[in-house]
Amino acid sequence: MGLEWVVHNLLTHPRRLPLVSASILSADFARLGEECRGALDAGADLLHLDVMDGHFAPNLTMGPDLCQAVRAAVPEAFLDVHLMVTEPNRYVEPFVRAGADHLTFHVEAVRGRDAVALAGSIRGAGASAGIALNPATRAQDVLEIVEHFEMVLVMSVVPGFSGQTFMGEVLDKVREIRASLRADQRLEMDGGIDGASGRRCVEAGCDVLASASAIFGRAAHERSGVIEEIRGPSKSGNVAGS
Ligand code: DX5
Ligand code: ZN
Repeated sequence: MGLEWVVHNLLTHPRRLPLVSASILSADFARLGEECRGALDAGADLLHLDVMDGHFAPNLTMGPDLCQAVRAAVPEAFLDVHLMVTEPNRYVEPFVRAGADHLTFHVEAVRGRDAVALAGSIRGAGASAGIALNPATRAQDVLEIVEHFEMVLVMSVVPGFSGQTFMGEVLDKVREIRASLRADQRLEMDGGIDGASGRRCVEAGCDVLASASAIFGRAAHERSGVIEEIRGPSKSGNVAGS
């Protein structure tokens, strides 16, 4: 396979940090294309797609067809797909074909050597690979394989629904993971992110902030302000891996 995608990948070669990934789980699904376009115009760097299968997480959300519809509506967008499913290997090809740029799966679903192999399959299909941990999962479970991933995603809520409260206790795990990452690897926080919690995450070492209800729960004209609050004050010289 060619690795041309690597130099164009917004996660490994970000224009700025932190990146804000607008999670469309809280968007108005009846107007999804417009909502995606609006979030990007308001300054979101990535769109975050939460895929749940009713097994790994107690909700059913979006599949490859929806991803394809988003890709068609916003052809230039970077699609950050978060697989909260028990068998992520079944969905790599369908989501990459549907336009996903990046796929994150959970270490609670696939671990160890199997997780490393799956990361290889994701890259082979043409996307970058991320590994996620639930709030109760220890950092060690990803640290032993972290070199094989372009991103680590730390959950600051239990997977399932948007609009939950940020769990600050996961920040210790963020600090531990950040200490083991290369400059070209990203660390995403997901769950309960607004301006205040986003700032704590960036201080602890996160450089990608996924947020649903704080962005889409606000009126369209307020979203650029919210996204800039989440991004926080920009620091010079913080663009790594570019
Ligand atoms: C939770 C999802 C999150 C969710 C975040 O299971 O993985 O991406 O959309 O929603 P907020 O930002 O509202 O907590
Ligand atoms: Zn998510």
